Amino acid sequence: MTDNPQSSAGPRHIAIVMDGNGRWASQRGRPRTAGHHAGAKSVRAVVEHAVELNVEVLTLFAFSSENWQRPPTEVQVLMDLFLRTIRRELAELRKNGVRLKFIGNRDNLSGNLRSSMAQAEELTAGNSRLELVVAVDYGGRWDIFNAARRLALDCAEGRLDVQQLTEADYASRLSLASHPAPDLFIRTGSEKRVSNFLLWDLAYSELYFTDVLWPDFDAACLQAAVEWYAGRNRRFGRVHASG
Ligand code: FPP
Repeated sequence: MTDNPQSSAGPRHIAIVMDGNGRWASQRGRPRTAGHHAGAKSVRAVVEHAVELNVEVLTLFAFSSENWQRPPTEVQVLMDLFLRTIRRELAELRKNGVRLKFIGNRDNLSGNLRSSMAQAEELTAGNSRLELVVAVDYGGRWDIFNAARRLALDCAEGRLDVQQLTEADYASRLSLASHPAPDLFIRTGSEKRVSNFLLWDLAYSELYFTDVLWPDFDAACLQAAVEWYAGRNRRFGRVHASG
């Protein structure tokens, strides 16, 4: 994982917490699930604009490790929506040069969803215009714990010497090890927290919070966030980015 010292060059990696679907629906007297359906349309708009902006990686938090605690009907609607969205959008994503990758624990997902995810990853593996990373049953703590467990196993089974371990040995076992770190983190829906998203990866990300609810977040909203990012002075703990 590498940090990008340039903000004026535009973000290489944008990570988004898509919050506010339920409130968007409630404001319209509709069930929360209507907000998730509307939210899927924002995903399409944002992916298209990210391609236009030459963003390399766009990571979306679709379902957290904690979201299983929502009412079972809402969880089911979300799972169905993921499955249908993958099936519906796959051809368009392939045409636009988008590579799909899923991160998170797949063990508790349905067989149908797991195989659609694997198939989408395989069919888009040769694309390089934008990598769309979708986090499903993902938690930053899960990711960190997993990496630690893998590292411990490699030490216990003699593949690595614990005395020689480096930070890079650890980081290389995280879900986004081979990706640039997110330059810009966006959270919609007013809340100002990271909510167990990419905890390790966000160390030096610029954090952008907006009151816009996710179903209302469109290309212009993404543009506004990217323009805000362009004005940031990224220092990574130093006095100047280049110092
Ligand atoms: C948070 O809003 C949103 C989610 C937990 C689900 C996000 C899913 C989508 C946008 C659907 C489509 C996604 C893909 C990748 C196909 P919330 O329900 O917590 O809203 P609230 O805070 O207003 O209750």
